[in-house]
Amino acid sequence: MTDPVSIRVTAVSLDDIALAEGRVVVFVGEDGKLDQLSRRVNRLTRGTLERLVGSERFEKLKVADSVSLEYPAGMTATAIQVVKLDRKPSVLDARKAGAGIGKVAGSEDVLVLAGNLGNPAAVASGIALRKYDFSAHKTRNGEANTVDVTMMLSKPDVAEAGIEDALDSARAVFFTRDLTNEPSNVLTTSEFADRLSAMSEIGLEVEVLEEDDLEKLGMRTLLAVGQGSESPSKVVVMRWNGGGDDAPLALIGKGVVFDTGGISIKPALNMEDMTMDMGGAGVVAGVMRGLALRKAKANVVGIVGLVENMPDGKAQRPGDVVRSMKGDTVEVINTDAEGRLVLADLLWYAQDRFRPSGMVDLATLTGAVIIALGHEKAGVFANDDEFADTFLKAARMEGEGAWHLPLDPAYDEALKSRVADIKNTGGRAAGSITAAQFLQNFVKSDTPWIHLDIAGVASVGTETTYAPKGATGWGVRALDRMIRNKFEN
Ligand code: BES
Ligand code: MN
Ligand code: ZN
Repeated sequence: MTDPVSIRVTAVSLDDIALAEGRVVVFVGEDGKLDQLSRRVNRLTRGTLERLVGSERFEKLKVADSVSLEYPAGMTATAIQVVKLDRKPSVLDARKAGAGIGKVAGSEDVLVLAGNLGNPAAVASGIALRKYDFSAHKTRNGEANTVDVTMMLSKPDVAEAGIEDALDSARAVFFTRDLTNEPSNVLTTSEFADRLSAMSEIGLEVEVLEEDDLEKLGMRTLLAVGQGSESPSKVVVMRWNGGGDDAPLALIGKGVVFDTGGISIKPALNMEDMTMDMGGAGVVAGVMRGLALRKAKANVVGIVGLVENMPDGKAQRPGDVVRSMKGDTVEVINTDAEGRLVLADLLWYAQDRFRPSGMVDLATLTGAVIIALGHEKAGVFANDDEFADTFLKAARMEGEGAWHLPLDPAYDEALKSRVADIKNTGGRAAGSITAAQFLQNFVKSDTPWIHLDIAGVASVGTETTYAPKGATGWGVRALDRMIRNKFEN
């Protein structure tokens, strides 16, 4: 697995600054005042820092942005990165500042002169998240992408646990990103299930349901999606039982390892992006990993449906009618609206077996949500406004974009089928909402439920604050935050 940084802490030692190899990072607030550590850097470089801080360049710098002074005289460092950040930064600013450090860090060591800076763990989190790079299939990079970071702190022992926690949380995100970035010939349904099963080593209970098990359970809508593929469909159940007798929170993920569209085949242009159509399952896996790493005091069950949507002689056809585990029949108008068929059975299975206190599903479900919200925010749908607000608040705290969109029975009209109980597409208008309405059909009205349409945010074509191009791991931190806030005892 990708693990791009090691971060250790050390006590303040002014004499080590002149001889530090690699990059040295200092923080200067908007007031321009230098602390003990930056004063030392300033003295070593004969006032360079003071000149920068007095300049228009520094004045115009936004909070958390930085200027790099390369090959400074008076120090062995190859660069001094001056970050504009107050001594008591907000968590978001501190994390953003860290991301700025991670973004420019190469393979050289980094010494972060944090001193008594507030929220050092958030800085560490930002460094790690942004330093990530998916290079598993680059043959010529070796170990060059791992960076050793040292944070020089006034009270290293006080900060250490928080920094370790931040790194564990980043590792959970990397697990999701690696899965989501992995090409579909590597991350087959079996490989995916194997990687999840391996998490039993960190204390998760993992169970893999095979096709004959799913057949017995009556999960026909899920199985129908995978029946045109050589790869067997699987459902993986991951349990973290840290919360005593509480009913669990259920996390459900769409894990379409590749979505060709099936017989309703997609056009060639950008079809390669559909390697990320298992992003919802990837997020569920990352959250579960995070819970185990930090030994959360909560009961959470993660359930993912791993299938491949391919067109062969056994593939389902448009017009087919299939029976869901719930018992409702579905007319498959478009085989490319496959995610909702997978989720329908998973949602029902989760409620039937676990009686969860709440249920959150994540899916790269519709192109329409990208038209509505672009790549900044995921679509949030819920049958319970209080639950939705709990999630939205957690997402805000973690800087992950999310926007509440409506559910309304009025949209059900679009899903009426001539031959079955419901059809799987509702036309072009409000495509994300009709998809959510379809899912709601499989949610009991007394189960608090959130549906997250992450098609626009799971993997993006341009870098973001916390991730390079590709998989973002969106949602891992927001869900972990929500669990910390509301589901832990
Ligand atoms: N996996 C796609 C949605 C998607 C599109 C994810 C773009 C990420 C980026 C989903 O299975 C799909 O094909 N949805 C169709 C639904 C339609 C046939 C009703 C869509 O959005 O076009
Ligand atoms: Mn599709
Ligand atoms: Zn899909």
